[in-house]
Amino acid sequence: MSSLYSQYVEALKDSPSPALYLDLNAFEKNISWAKENAGGKKIRVATKSIRSVELIKKVLASNSVFQGLMTFTLAESLWLRDLGFKDILIGYPTVDRKSLEILARNPQEITLMVDLPEHIELLAKYNAPFRICLDLDLSMDLPFVRFGVYRSALQKLETLQALLSVIKKYPQIRLVGAMGYEAQIAGVMDKESWLMRFLKKLSIKQLRKRRALMVEEIQKAGFKLEFVNGGGTGSIQSTREEKVVTEITVGSGFFAPVLFDHYQDFTLTPAMGFTLPVVRKPLPGLITCLGGGYIASGENVALKTPTPYLPHGLKLLANEGAGEVQTPMSCPQNISLNIGDVVFMRHAKAGEACERFSHIHLIRGSQLEGVVATYRGDGQTIL
Ligand SMILES: Cc1ncc(COP(=O)(O)O)c(C=O)c1O
Repeated sequence: MSSLYSQYVEALKDSPSPALYLDLNAFEKNISWAKENAGGKKIRVATKSIRSVELIKKVLASNSVFQGLMTFTLAESLWLRDLGFKDILIGYPTVDRKSLEILARNPQEITLMVDLPEHIELLAKYNAPFRICLDLDLSMDLPFVRFGVYRSALQKLETLQALLSVIKKYPQIRLVGAMGYEAQIAGVMDKESWLMRFLKKLSIKQLRKRRALMVEEIQKAGFKLEFVNGGGTGSIQSTREEKVVTEITVGSGFFAPVLFDHYQDFTLTPAMGFTLPVVRKPLPGLITCLGGGYIASGENVALKTPTPYLPHGLKLLANEGAGEVQTPMSCPQNISLNIGDVVFMRHAKAGEACERFSHIHLIRGSQLEGVVATYRGDGQTIL
């Protein structure tokens, strides 16, 4: 068994299993990686990819390059503001009227995302000085397929101009930012595909022009932007090259989930995972663990299933995968696992595992350094 396996087992020997854990040395290494790769831009911390107040605080406190949050709902943002967080940009539009009523009474520190006249018209009803940010579409449309995601409607200059005219009708609303998320760069694995690497190169060229043009258009219309946000963990090395961008969003890179094992241009250190206890041995060469079926969102492919991590050599079974209550795995002869031992798994994505656990066990070497709550542990189920 590897020394990492023995260290983790020692650190978690008194903890229940399944348990979510974070290797603090690896987490700090990934924080340093983000800081060193920011290229002079600020880094806005993506809360959806962390989902733990204490860990968000740890990232923000680690260096002044980390400033502000990108949150995922208005209810979450109000909660975080109550806890003292500042400079909160919600990455996605909101139609949550109840939370908007609360925000209208005090719109400070929270910026709402918009890309449609309907978004503006809904906000205008509150007659409050809401802060808003425009979500610019940076996807690349190819003849039969979009290289990118379907989110913002703001792709053409004319559509942007029309929306800017709508915003001008409501002088109480304050346009303070622009964001373009190049999901096809940040979120697409490319290590095993020359085609993806080629498409990414092509798309980066196109999106750089479009982002610069659109920001220029906003400024020409008389709006003074406080920030231009771009990117994610997977695109930091290209987003930082854009002059017009003032800040890059990073979240999932801190935990380094399995999807980031498949990027060509950078290597992160696996930091977060979860234990499963061995509860059965149905046949020689097989173990069955309790729990494990924590499937990641998005396109339905095998990679979205958790991956056995330690000890090295365990494999999920194609017919069963990771199960709702039980997960069988093949276990090579040289690995000796007994009933009650634990195995370590990694989630495909970063924040979603936190929805399965109330706490995260913080490991340093073979020591348990502490336990912090996830959003779920704080009684918050956001999405
Ligand atoms: C608007 C936006 N920015 C940035 C990101 C990337 O965040 P991360 O670094 O957590 O992958 C995402 C991820 O979906 C996003 O939706």
